[in-house]
Amino acid sequence: MRALSANLFALLLLCALSSVFYVWSALENRLERHKRRFSGPSQESFQQGPSEDLSAKTFRALLAVPAAQRQNVQNLSYPSAFVGTRDYHVNGNKRSAQREAPVKLGSPVDDGIFWSDWLEDLLPVRFTEGYAEAWRNKARTSAVIKLEPGCGRVSNQLATFADGTKACVRYGINADQVQGETLTYYLAGLLGITNLPPLILSQLNGDSAQWAAVRTRMSHLQWSDGAVVSLTEWISNLTGVVTPAPLRQQGVGLNPALKRLENQTTAELLELMQWSDLIVFDYLTANFDRLVSNLFSLQWDPHVMERDTNNLLRTPRGDLVFIDNEAGLVHGFRVLNLWEKYHHSVLSSVCVFRKRTTQRVAELHRRRDSRWRLLELYRDSEPLSRELGFLSDEHAAVLQDRIDRLYKHILHCKGKYRQM
Ligand SMILES: Nc1ncnc2c1ncn2[C@@H]1O[C@H](COP(=O)(O)OP(=O)(O)O)[C@@H](O)[C@H]1O
Ligand SMILES: [Mg+2]
Repeated sequence: MRALSANLFALLLLCALSSVFYVWSALENRLERHKRRFSGPSQESFQQGPSEDLSAKTFRALLAVPAAQRQNVQNLSYPSAFVGTRDYHVNGNKRSAQREAPVKLGSPVDDGIFWSDWLEDLLPVRFTEGYAEAWRNKARTSAVIKLEPGCGRVSNQLATFADGTKACVRYGINADQVQGETLTYYLAGLLGITNLPPLILSQLNGDSAQWAAVRTRMSHLQWSDGAVVSLTEWISNLTGVVTPAPLRQQGVGLNPALKRLENQTTAELLELMQWSDLIVFDYLTANFDRLVSNLFSLQWDPHVMERDTNNLLRTPRGDLVFIDNEAGLVHGFRVLNLWEKYHHSVLSSVCVFRKRTTQRVAELHRRRDSRWRLLELYRDSEPLSRELGFLSDEHAAVLQDRIDRLYKHILHCKGKYRQM
C-alpha cells in the first residue's frame, strides 16, 4: 500500500513538473518570436507592430543589450572613439515602421546623459556615407543644364543636372563662405553627423563639360570663370522646423531630468536627439545663423521662436536637414566675440547627447588632432581642396579649443546627472 501511494505521489509530481515545463516553454517561444520580430531583417514583420499582450517591462527586457556589448561611454576618454559597434545606417523602412509604433520602448536616456540605444536604432539616416559618396561621384561628372532661382538669395542658384536631379550652387560672395560651408560639411563627417546634404566643390569654367550649357546664364549672374563654388544635393519636400519648447529662451533646456521627456512620442524624441547633435555642431563651428541668431532676434522680436528656425528643414520622414552652413568655422570664428555668449548659453542648455557624437568629441579632445583629421578628410575627399584652401592655424586652434570646452561641458553634465 505504501509502495502504491509512493508511486502515485511520484506520478503526480511528474505530471506537475511537466505542466510547469510545458507552460514555461510556450512562454519562452512567444518571447523568442517577439524578439525576432524586433531584430529580424524582414520588413513585413515590422509592419505588424508590437502585440498588445506584452507589457512595456517585457519590451524593455527584450531590448536590453548585454552590458558587454554596449559601447563603453562611461569613461569619456575611451580610446576607440571611431569603433561603431552599432550600424547607424541600417534599413530605413525598419526604422520608419517602428517610429510609428505607439509603444514606448523604455527610458529615452541611458547612463545619465545619453540618448538610449533603442532611440538610436530608430533614428532615420538620410545621408549615409555610401549615399553621400555616390551622390558626390555623380555630381562631379554631371553636366549642369539649367540654373534658376530656388535656393535662397540670388548668389545661390538651383542647378538641374542632365539626368533631371538638382543641386543648390552657392557662389560665395567671398571665399570664407564657400570654405565655411565645405569645411563644416567635412567636420560633420568627422563627428558622424549625417544631417547635411552631400556636397562637392566645382570650379566654374564656361568651356568645361559641366558648365558649358549654362555659360550665358553664368555671365548674367556675373559668375566669374575660375571661381570655386559648392554644390549640395537639393532635397524635395522639405518643411520648416520650429525650435522645440525646452530649447527656447524661457525653456528649461534639454536635460535628462526633464520630466516631459518621458511623455514625448517616439518621433518627438528622435527629433530632440537630432537637435542635441545640432547644438553640439553649431557650438563647435560657431554657426550663429541658426538657433543663436533667433535668440539674438528675441531682443526686438518676441515671437521669433514661434517661427521656423533659420537654415533648418525637415524631411517628411522626420530627418532634420542642416542647410546653409556657410557661417560655420571661418566667418563664425571671425565674429566670435559678438556671438560667444549666445553660443555658450545654447550649449549650456543641453545635457543629453548622442553616444557616438560624444565618443568622437572625446577622441578629438584626447588626441588634440582635430586640425589634422579635418584636413586629411577634406583633402582625401575633395579634389578641389587645394584651390579652396583650409582653416588658418589660428582658426584651427579655435576649433580645438571649442572641442575641449565641449568635452568639459559633457563631463560636467555627466557629473551632474550621474545618478540618473
Ligand atoms: N539642399 C536643399 N534642398 C532643398 N531646398 C534647399 C536646399 N538648400 C536651400 N534650399 C531652399 O532654399 C532656401 C534658402 O536656402 P539657404 O541655403 O538658407 O539660402 P540663403 O543663403 O539665401 O540663406 C531654403 O529655405 C530652402 O527652401
Ligand atoms: Mg540661409
